[in-house]
Amino acid sequence: MSRPFPDYLRECQQRIDDALPRLIGQAASEYSEHAAPHLHKLFESIHYSTLNGGKRVRPVLVYAAARAIKPDFENDEALDHVAAAVECIHAYSLVHDDLPAMDDDDLRRGKPTCHIAFDEATAILAGDGLQSIAVELLASVPNLADQRRLALIKTLVAAAGPRGMVGGQAIDLGAVNQSPTLETLEAMHQLKTGALLRAAVRLGAEYAGADSEQLRKLDQYGRAIGLAFQVQDDILDIEASTETLGKTQGSDLARNKPTYPALLGMEGAKQRAQTLYEEAMAALEGFDEQALRLRELARFIVQREH
Ligand code: IPE
Ligand code: IPE
Ligand code: MG
Ligand code: MG
Ligand code: MG
Repeated sequence: MSRPFPDYLRECQQRIDDALPRLIGQAASEYSEHAAPHLHKLFESIHYSTLNGGKRVRPVLVYAAARAIKPDFENDEALDHVAAAVECIHAYSLVHDDLPAMDDDDLRRGKPTCHIAFDEATAILAGDGLQSIAVELLASVPNLADQRRLALIKTLVAAAGPRGMVGGQAIDLGAVNQSPTLETLEAMHQLKTGALLRAAVRLGAEYAGADSEQLRKLDQYGRAIGLAFQVQDDILDIEASTETLGKTQGSDLARNKPTYPALLGMEGAKQRAQTLYEEAMAALEGFDEQALRLRELARFIVQREH
């Protein structure tokens, strides 16, 4: 019998929490001998934005997707590079998302956002730096052929860039005070949030050597849970408290953001999350018991309370 999902989740979170300072620290130490006060501040802001908790859903997806393909590979230390790279892109996206020019939020993971704790310029640079660190981590995945490292880099940067997260953020900002169609809203959510979650699944599977049919199925799964994740994020902005969220409740409403509950109503949004959960589960039908953790993660994503 496999251990309960909450234990698995906690172990994966602990694993990435241990790996991140080690891997980001390595990237930092190369420059430390030249450290001037401003450089110290930059590295502090990078550490502040990555080592401050968070659910670590994307790294856990990397581990669980690798496990679904080849359980032996899940424990590879090299997979920590992949998981950390995705989390660095995610952390950068949050730092920039919170900036005054974007969502202008002052609370993240229960603490002042990066630009409040430091300053705006430092927050911009911390995000920029995290992006480079992510690519550096993938370029140096141990014991992997260069060609396969390159494939991982391509997957991650495509999901992060203008055809992925950055593109979604651009649509998001342009949609404030607008009433987009459901189609536009869905495309925006797919890009701004879905793309990186989908890439996390793909990266774990690619690392473990998935064949094209397995990748196609896992991509369907990743697409569904990626969108479901943002639908639930929109729901929680209304239903959860600032304390449980660790970010300011009602931030979307205050800024008149286009969200699923705004367009479909709360029940419609919850129904959409449920349908996406079912789509994700259907995509995993051809997989055996090794995909248990991915199934449990899909449920976690639509049932989470923060
Ligand atoms: C929040 O992501 C931003 C979205 C993409 C919806 P998470 O809910 O994964 O944030 P952390 O990492 O747990 O803080
Ligand atoms: C997050 O969307 C998208 C990215 C950070 C790429 P939100 O703006 O809804 O995320 P939160 O609610 O601030 O975490
Ligand atoms: Mg935003
Ligand atoms: Mg935001
Ligand atoms: Mg939100």
